[in-house]
Amino acid sequence: MIRKAGYPVEAHVIMTEDGYLLTLHRISGDNDSLPVLLLHAYLLADQGYNVWLGNFHGTTYSKTHISLSPSNPTFWNFSFDEIGIYDVSAMVTFITNLRSQPLHTCVGHSMGTTCFYVMASERPEIARMVKMMFNFGPVFLNHMQSPIRFLVPIRRMIKTLQPIILSDFLDVVSVKAMEHYVQEIHSGKFRKYDYGRARNQLIYNSAEPPDYNLANITVPSALFYGSGDLLVNIVDVKRLYRILPNVVDLYEVPWSKFNHLDFIWAKDAPKLVYERAFKLMKNTNLNNVILIG
Ligand SMILES: *[C@@H]1O[C@H](CO)[C@@H](O)[C@H](O)[C@H]1NC(C)=O
Ligand SMILES: *[C@@H]1O[C@H](CO)[C@@H](O)[C@H](O)[C@H]1NC(C)=O
Ligand SMILES: *[C@@H]1O[C@H](CO)[C@@H](O)[C@H](O)[C@H]1NC(C)=O
Repeated sequence: MIRKAGYPVEAHVIMTEDGYLLTLHRISGDNDSLPVLLLHAYLLADQGYNVWLGNFHGTTYSKTHISLSPSNPTFWNFSFDEIGIYDVSAMVTFITNLRSQPLHTCVGHSMGTTCFYVMASERPEIARMVKMMFNFGPVFLNHMQSPIRFLVPIRRMIKTLQPIILSDFLDVVSVKAMEHYVQEIHSGKFRKYDYGRARNQLIYNSAEPPDYNLANITVPSALFYGSGDLLVNIVDVKRLYRILPNVVDLYEVPWSKFNHLDFIWAKDAPKLVYERAFKLMKNTNLNNVILIG
């Protein structure tokens, strides 16, 4: 699909520490025919960036494990915790080693941001390789009533759209990740998956799951949010802004109906979102970009 649009693309397969094989796509080029999901990738490539698309395990391009088959339930035994700790870490490390310098901008959308917060708080030595983080529709805690309630209409909506979106968006929302989000709504805490007191004791050595330490995330971060976003409450974004120690930009997209998925495919996203993001990126003088989520 990318190649069809006229951009050179390379695929790299990398292995995570927990044995999943992930495909990273690298795009560079200067054409602008735009299938929706990859919109930001093209825009970034047009700006002369090396763009990497991170495919989390479980998604179409990353459905392999060294020993587990996708038909084995253990293959699917992951939430955003494992994706953050293993997938995001593997991607960042791979690109850093390939270029021999820490120079990525990371752009996360939705669950991609959650995974990034997990990685950055649990693996600070890897987070240090990331020079800037863009958070589009950031999700850590959640004041909405039920994510399931909102995901149902989104599912219905997406089916009417390009297949690539279906796979890249829906596969990623594993059942365990959804449960994990629901747990956070109930507990009001951004913390590891809750297995119940007895199993928590065995797994975490405490009856309650440990919190992710957002206050430890020193990566310069830009938070972009839409006031029409049903999945992300502005109250939570403001809270995140207060907790993260190094927020360089807090930006409400100046369009009252701008919603969660508009970051991906709104026709106006280049003007409303990306122009500002590009300016910030230029200031940091980096040329490697990874998109997650
Ligand atoms: C860009 O797209 C146009 C048509 O939309 C095509 O004619 C042109 O060859 C493409 N350029 C590159 C570099 O692929
Ligand atoms: C899933 O992972 C948890 C935590 O490591 C483990 O206790 C549980 O047995 C696993 N379940 C499956 C089906 O792999
Ligand atoms: C993270 O923060 C906690 C307290 O907020 C602190 O005790 C810990 O040392 C920090 N860890 C790192 C790696 O900075």
